Amino acid sequence: MRVLSGIQPSGRLHLGNYFAMMKRMIHWQEKSELFCFIASYHAQTTLRDGKELRLHTMEAARDFLALGLDPKKSVFWVQSDVPEVHELAWILAQSITVPQLELGHSYKDKVSAGMAPGAGLFFYPVLMAADILGFRATSVPVGRDQKQHLEMARDICRRFNNEYGELFTLPEADIALEVALVPGIDGRKMSKSYNNTIPVFGSTAEIKKQVMSIVTDSKGMDEPKSREGPLYEIFQLFLDEAGRRALDEKFAARGVGYGHIKKDLLQTIETHFAECRERRAALTDEVVRAIMERGAQRARAVIRPLLDQARALTGLAY
Ligand code: ADP
Ligand code: TRP
Repeated sequence: MRVLSGIQPSGRLHLGNYFAMMKRMIHWQEKSELFCFIASYHAQTTLRDGKELRLHTMEAARDFLALGLDPKKSVFWVQSDVPEVHELAWILAQSITVPQLELGHSYKDKVSAGMAPGAGLFFYPVLMAADILGFRATSVPVGRDQKQHLEMARDICRRFNNEYGELFTLPEADIALEVALVPGIDGRKMSKSYNNTIPVFGSTAEIKKQVMSIVTDSKGMDEPKSREGPLYEIFQLFLDEAGRRALDEKFAARGVGYGHIKKDLLQTIETHFAECRERRAALTDEVVRAIMERGAQRARAVIRPLLDQARALTGLAY
């Protein structure tokens, strides 16, 4: 099994990214061939500041390494260090129609939110298909919001293979139900674009501010508290079954207010990431850059022969 996924360096990593994607990717490195990358080309569709993109790319790489991604057990690179993916995207672009791309939720959402869409935003799913098909990924762990992009990648794969012969492997989306949609502190999907995130590597003060602002109803200390809502949903992500039972009891108990539970959650978050935080502080820019450079070489060695075959099949190589 070959597992592949990418994350855009478009802002700081939050708990939604961590539980839906990064934690699961790191878990896969023990039992599959893992391909993991920082989607810097994709981030350009929304991030229009060179300094910020550079910074977030380094930070995302550092985050992954701190969380336990092992570059010896996986291929880990920055998307824009492997430009082959763009040539492949061009070849694959002929296997999807404009009306199909016009149906893209993520594209439509951004347009309806008032963003003037660059051509890159429209092309986004084609590049994503090249990321996936170019490495013959069989399984792609993502959150639910990426499902449609995966379906487009599958369509492109089928159409290309029908036209030119079986070159690409049909990928499957791997969407874990329990983390398909991690809520933010306001109860909507946790997302950089909504400013409702809990940053994994934020300072204690930042995390505290966000945790204390999680919306709840107005049940008093002596009433059973509601398990519906972001406080319970976020808290239980950190717990095993016994932990969840204890949390249920806390929600049912008298004399415990939402404020107490928020303090416990803060403590749980701190403890959960304490070791990663130390590892992160020890990773210098030089070390991170060297790891990413080596990763890009390995990624290029995988995509190049496949791109050459696509060039041959489509007549670009003459
Ligand atoms: P954001 O919405 O904050 O910009 P990204 O689009 O960069 O996040 O998402 C990176 C990965 O994390 C994707 O696989 C995406 O599906 C997943 N993801 C992001 N937010 C959530 C969430 N709130 N719940 C579940 N998965 C999420
Ligand atoms: N679009 C994904 C996101 O916003 C990032 C991404 C780019 C990706 N290429 C990919 C994810 C290939 C999985 C496979 O989260």
